[in-house]
Amino acid sequence: MIVSPSPENIDRAAHLLHAGSLVSFPTETVYGLGADARNPEAVRRVFAAKGRPAEHPLIVHLADASALSRWARAIPPGAHALAAAFWPGPLTLILPRDTNVLDVVTGGQDSVGLRVPGHPVARALLQRFVALGGDGVAAPSANRFGRVSATMALHVAEDFGGEVELILDGGPCRHGIESTIVAFTSDEPVLLRPGALSMAELTRVLGRAPKIGSSAAPRAPGTLASHYAPRTPTRLLPREELLSALGHVGSSTGHIAVLAHSIEQPPLFDGTWFDAPSHDAAYAHELYANLRALDARAADEIWIETPPDGPEWSAVRDRLRRATHRG
Ligand code: TXA
Ligand code: MG
Repeated sequence: MIVSPSPENIDRAAHLLHAGSLVSFPTETVYGLGADARNPEAVRRVFAAKGRPAEHPLIVHLADASALSRWARAIPPGAHALAAAFWPGPLTLILPRDTNVLDVVTGGQDSVGLRVPGHPVARALLQRFVALGGDGVAAPSANRFGRVSATMALHVAEDFGGEVELILDGGPCRHGIESTIVAFTSDEPVLLRPGALSMAELTRVLGRAPKIGSSAAPRAPGTLASHYAPRTPTRLLPREELLSALGHVGSSTGHIAVLAHSIEQPPLFDGTWFDAPSHDAAYAHELYANLRALDARAADEIWIETPPDGPEWSAVRDRLRRATHRG
């Protein structure tokens, strides 16, 4: 099921998509679980495979920005500017949808999420799909609903069995964290999800910072309080609290698995210890693989050192907050 992204396999993947099957492909952010966005049965298959509620919309992936006008009925100047600056790349625009966009894709909303990914395998796949008469590929992150996203082909295979016909292996994803989502559905741009493209970059091109969306905003699964979550109970602990808690680990605390970026493993600690990178981009790159590996240890609890405060950490903080949300 996992295959190398050779031209033959990309061609095969494009044909499978065109025939209504599901194909997983690498992007620069995370792996996607793709289906022909013009084929309602294929799109429904994505929801079934993920276990995703029908009202949560999917992002449509396009071969290039010239396809925008077939999907969006209005493209405000700010959206144009962002697309010109960052596509292909880790940015998703939410725009008023064209009337032909399927309700299954948008969850019945009047807007649609669009993105031109930059990963060479994703680009080649989309171009081949277009050559076959296709238009856009609807693709959520290739993980079960609510769980940790996939940044390696193996992660996708772990989450999905026969539902996915083919997984194109593009190696580990460069960013390792999802695209930044900006909505242009009201009179000013709204940041719905911090992501691989930084707020500073958005601000530079827009001329001012986008408004920050409230987490109660549009039905976006990545914006649910509890998401990206390991099965093991997981807590975020600021450095000092983690140090103190580590001093009390013993037989009564059970097996603890730790992810720390500024603390070294204490000599007497006998749980699972993962050192995370102390640089934001490197930390994000490894985050989901670390969460999956920590979860696989079947510890009683996962303790994660709270990441730093700076704006460059906002996407990582957002994902960890949701990964550790209880209830
Ligand atoms: O980096 C990414 O964006 C990855 C790769 C595969 O492209 N995709 C991804 O898809 O993260 P997913 O489905 O896991 O998250 C997409 C987010 C969800 O929170 C979804 O609700 C939101 O985009 N979204 C899609 N269409 C929307 C719309 N019309 N209005 C509001 N939010 C929307
Ligand atoms: Mg997701």
